[in-house]
Amino acid sequence: MNPVDYLRISLIDRCNFRCQYCMPEGEELAYVRRQDWLTIAELLILLEQVFMPLGFRKFRLTGGEPLLRPEVVEVVGAIASLPQTEDIALTTNGFLLAPLAEPLYQAGLRRINISLDSLDPDTFEAMIGNGGKSRWPQVWEGIQAAQRVGFAPLKLNVVVIPGVNDHEIEDFAALTLDRPWHVRFIEFMPIGNGSLFGERAWVASAELRRRIGDRWGLTTGQVQGNGPADVFQIPGAVGTVGFISQMSECFCDRCNRMRLAADGWLRPCLLNETGQINLRDALRNGVPIEEIYQQVAALLAHKPEINFQARESGTTGTYSRTMSQIGG
Ligand code: GTP
Ligand code: 5AD
Ligand code: SF4
Repeated sequence: MNPVDYLRISLIDRCNFRCQYCMPEGEELAYVRRQDWLTIAELLILLEQVFMPLGFRKFRLTGGEPLLRPEVVEVVGAIASLPQTEDIALTTNGFLLAPLAEPLYQAGLRRINISLDSLDPDTFEAMIGNGGKSRWPQVWEGIQAAQRVGFAPLKLNVVVIPGVNDHEIEDFAALTLDRPWHVRFIEFMPIGNGSLFGERAWVASAELRRRIGDRWGLTTGQVQGNGPADVFQIPGAVGTVGFISQMSECFCDRCNRMRLAADGWLRPCLLNETGQINLRDALRNGVPIEEIYQQVAALLAHKPEINFQARESGTTGTYSRTMSQIGG
């Protein structure tokens, strides 16, 4: 069993996109009200007095879209300057990234994962939903800005949906030939808006590996990270290709993370909220920090069974939130 030392912190449950696979279509989501967000001061108390003493050393900021949280640069700076922090990273859709890349880097962020599901602006628009002007160029500019500023490793997340973007696998892999980018293909998980794409709306990583291997060859690769990706490299390429295979290969037994939502819910597993605790309520109700520590320690101790249950119940799990509310 891996040590659990990686906390994914959702800073906000709102998003400026409405990716079809992530948010339910048409249905209005009830967003957390601003006053119900865990404040930055509360977050830091929890990190310093609960999570770090329990051994958490790696942190990832997610959303919704984390760049919509007004204090995102401040949060990065605060977490990066804590002596126990070994790694701080952020996952974004890239739309607001270009002007924020430099301030985020200055605040201490060094690595960033950007979602990009298509290299074709029209397909991209269809996938990210909610209409509007073409947003692909602005995301692409965000990626370029991140590279210019010096983020490394710079990763691109591609959720692969058969019949929608799976014909672009080789184009994505080709980006790694001469760019220091790390493209990760993610098997779509039918949660949140799962029914949209039908029963078998995912492509097994093994199939994608075979396609890329047939074209260029593929060896094992390496890139800094704390997540579940299996990393490979096209011989001679600058970047790498990774595969996140939660549907075809269970990686629950090497799970190293918990998730803290914007409104303070601490969730032991992406697919299972059994035992979750609201840490914001605990703080605001005056529960002593030692008691909060004990509650989190107890949840941590039960985490292996909780993961196992999630796997047993397949992808249905126990969750009442969309991916955008959990933070991926
Ligand atoms: P690195 O530290 O760069 O390796 O980050 P990461 O891969 O952990 O972070 P990212 O936010 O880029 O997550 C990529 C995808 O991995 C997510 O969208 C999920 O699809 C998947 N993923 C991450 N953690 C879990 C998990 O605990 N369970 C499952 N089933 N999927 C996960
Ligand atoms: N299945 C797999 N990945 C998903 N993401 C969002 N929803 C899903 C899903 N249903 C991914 C996003 C982003 C990451 C945080 O989560 O594309 O890269
Ligand atoms: Fe898309 Fe990420 Fe926003 Fe979900 S949270 S709608 S995956 S950009």
